[in-house]
Formats: sequence, C-alpha cells, structure tokens
Amino acid sequence: MTVLGVDLRRVYGAYPTGVAVVAGLVGGRPAGIAASSFVPVSLDPPLVSVCVAHTSTTWPLLRELPRIGISVLGAHQEHVGRRLGARTGDRFAGVDWRATPDGCVLVEGASAWYDCTVEEQFRSGDHDIVVFRIHDLDAASDVPPLVFHASGFRRLD
Ligand SMILES: Cc1cc2nc3c(=O)[nH]c(=O)nc-3n(C[C@H](O)[C@H](O)[C@H](O)COP(=O)(O)O)c2cc1C
Repeated sequence: MTVLGVDLRRVYGAYPTGVAVVAGLVGGRPAGIAASSFVPVSLDPPLVSVCVAHTSTTWPLLRELPRIGISVLGAHQEHVGRRLGARTGDRFAGVDWRATPDGCVLVEGASAWYDCTVEEQFRSGDHDIVVFRIHDLDAASDVPPLVFHASGFRRLD
C-alpha cells in the first residue's frame, strides 16, 4: 500500500515496537497470533490494545473466549515470534506455553504477560482496534524484550 507513492509498510516499520502473542484455548488447543501493534492504553481502568487485520482467521475464534492471554516476547524468543506470525503450520510447535484455569494461553519465559477480557472493539480501516481489560499481569524485569523494527527482529543491545 502507498500514500502519494510512498510505501506504508516501510515507513510504519521505522517505528520500533515489541512483539506480543495474543492467545487462548480454542477447543482445548492453543490458538494465537503475533502482534506488533500491542499498546498500553489506560491505567485506570487498566486497558491495553492490539490492532487486528480483518483478514485474520484466528481473531474471530479468540474474540469469543472468556479470557485471552497477551505475552510480551523476550529477546530470546525470536523463534516464537516467527512461529506465531506465520500464516501456516502448527504455531505452538516448539513453543513453551501454559494455560491459566480461565483459558488464557501465556508464553513461558516472556518479558511480561497479561490476563485479559475484550472490553471494546472498533473498526478502523482494514483493522479492528481491540481494547482489552487487564485482570492479572506481571513482568520479568530480568528478561529483555524482543524488538521488531524495519520488518526484522532485533534486540536492544
Ligand atoms: C512480528 C509480527 C507482528 C505482527 N503483528 C500483527 C498485528 O499487530 N496485527 C495483525 O493483525 N497481525 C499481525 N501479524 C500477523 C499475525 O501474526 C498472523 O500472521 C495473521 O493474523 C494471520 O494469521 P491468522 O489468519 O491465523 O490470523 C504480525 C506478524 C508478525 C510476524
């Protein structure tokens, strides 16, 4: 896609982000996607958001779930980002994950995790802006984050 002949992905990619895994148990099996659009939104109430493409085949399954997990990947989890961001294949093969009693799927060893419900969802262009309410969360201060920049996985150092 271009605006006045300039490639949108190239320019959007100049903004570095982390990589989050949005996941839950669907029929007893883990399902999820990688998302670089994760953004904290509000402190009170505690809200975060992710933008999901209308072409996603996994999001329509996830949004029906009572709880959804969001894991912020660590620098050592590039393979997880690639797996969860791939369109084909078993996304959780080789991925160390756990499910909470409520059905959140969380990636073990992540930099941070959130146990969420869907609060609101807005259509915006070819994506939905999904706002999540946080019910539980934690961060591992000793796990540096994975960075996504210019279409590639990077580390802070
Ligand atoms: C690093 C990375 C970041 C991604 N970020 C997003 C995102 O923010 N929103 C989105 O809809 N898809 C994103 N994707 C694509 C999804 O992870 C996934 O491939 C897509 O939803 C298609 O799979 P599905 O049809 O199972 O949903 C990203 C992929 C990668 C590799």
